[in-house]
Amino acid sequence: MPDMLVKLYDLPELEPALAKQRDMGITIRRGMAPEKFLVLDWIGQHFSEYWVSEADVGFAARPPTIFLAHRGEQILGFACYDTAHMNFFGPTGVDEAERGRGIGTALLLAALHAMRETGHMYGIIGWAGPVKYYEKVVGAEVISGSEPPGSYRGMLGTHAIFTEGAPGDSFLHER
Ligand SMILES: CC(C)(COP(=O)(O)OP(=O)(O)OC[C@H]1O[C@@H](n2cnc3c(N)ncnc32)[C@H](O)[C@@H]1OP(=O)(O)O)[C@@H](O)C(=O)NCCC(=O)NCCS
Repeated sequence: MPDMLVKLYDLPELEPALAKQRDMGITIRRGMAPEKFLVLDWIGQHFSEYWVSEADVGFAARPPTIFLAHRGEQILGFACYDTAHMNFFGPTGVDEAERGRGIGTALLLAALHAMRETGHMYGIIGWAGPVKYYEKVVGAEVISGSEPPGSYRGMLGTHAIFTEGAPGDSFLHER
C-alpha cells in the first residue's frame, strides 16, 4: 500500500460528481465541528480508531479538512485531507452498502479540489489501499519506494503490520 501522487491541476471537474449525488438525494459537503461526535462514532463503527483520530484532526482545522456524504440524517461516507501529514489525502471511506454509486469519487474530488484551492499543484494519497481506484478516478500514480512504513514510519501500533503485513481480515489488508 504505497503513497500515490495526483496532479491537482488536471483533476476531473467536481460539479458533475456533486450533481450526480444531489440527484440521488445525497449531500457532499465540508464537515462542521458540532457534528464531530456523530461522525467520529460512525467512523469508529465502520472503520478504525486510526481513522477516528485523523478525522478528529480534520474537524479541528479551519476550515475543517473533512468532507461528508449523507442522505438526510444518514451518514454515508467521509474523506479527509491534511490530517496525518500536510498535502496528504485520506483517510476516506464509504458505507459498504452504498459503494459503487460514485460517493467515493465525489468525496475524493471535493477534497482534492480543496487541496488545489489552497495552492497545491500536486497532492499525495497516503497509504493508498485501493490503488486501482485512485488510478482510475484521478489518474494517480504510485510513488516508487513509498511502501509502508514510508511516510508513516514509527507510527505506534503498526510495527507488526509493517514487518509481517496486515492480517487478511484487516481493513489495512491490500484490496
Ligand atoms: C475506496 C472507496 C472509498 C470507494 O468508494 P465508492 O463510493 O465505492 O467509489 P465509487 O463508486 O466512486 O467508484 C468509482 C469507480 O472506481 C471503482 N472502484 C471502487 N472501488 C474500487 C477498488 N477498491 N478497486 C478498483 N476499483 C474500484 C468503481 O467500480 C467505480 O468504477 P466505475 O466508475 O467504472 O463504476 C470504498 O470502496 C471504501 O470505503 N473502501 C474501504 C475503505 C478504503 O479502502 N478507503 C481507502 C483508503 S486509502
